[in-house]
Amino acid sequence: MRADPSQAEPHDVLIHVCVTCRRADDDADAPRPGARLHRALADALPAGMALRPVECLGNCRRSCTVAVSAPGCWTYVFGDLVAESGTEVLAAAALLAGSTDGLMPWRGRPEPFKRGMIARIPPLLDHKEAAE
Ligand code: FES
Repeated sequence: MRADPSQAEPHDVLIHVCVTCRRADDDADAPRPGARLHRALADALPAGMALRPVECLGNCRRSCTVAVSAPGCWTYVFGDLVAESGTEVLAAAALLAGSTDGLMPWRGRPEPFKRGMIARIPPLLDHKEAAE
């Protein structure tokens, strides 16, 4: 019997935040916006979500940058965020947590997550699965 995807448990979501992101006009001595975004997320992280700081996601020209992933789901990289984007990051992560097809739904995405998508990356498969 096939499982009903609408009855699926929420996915655990991992949020990577680039803590070294900053813009060219940012004060070099001030805390970096990416680090401030990471700190804000750490203070508000709900159950079922994990947070991991990283140094550079290869999107430096469109910082701040986050990557949102979950087992069996596509990974999404978003840019053009700011230190105050924590609420939107968590809303987007919740959409992926509730996904029934492994994709982050467009409907309901916070605006920065519609225009700030840098890439989406397919779920990781092992070589045997990929060859099928
Ligand atoms: S420094 Fe943040 S993406 Fe490169």
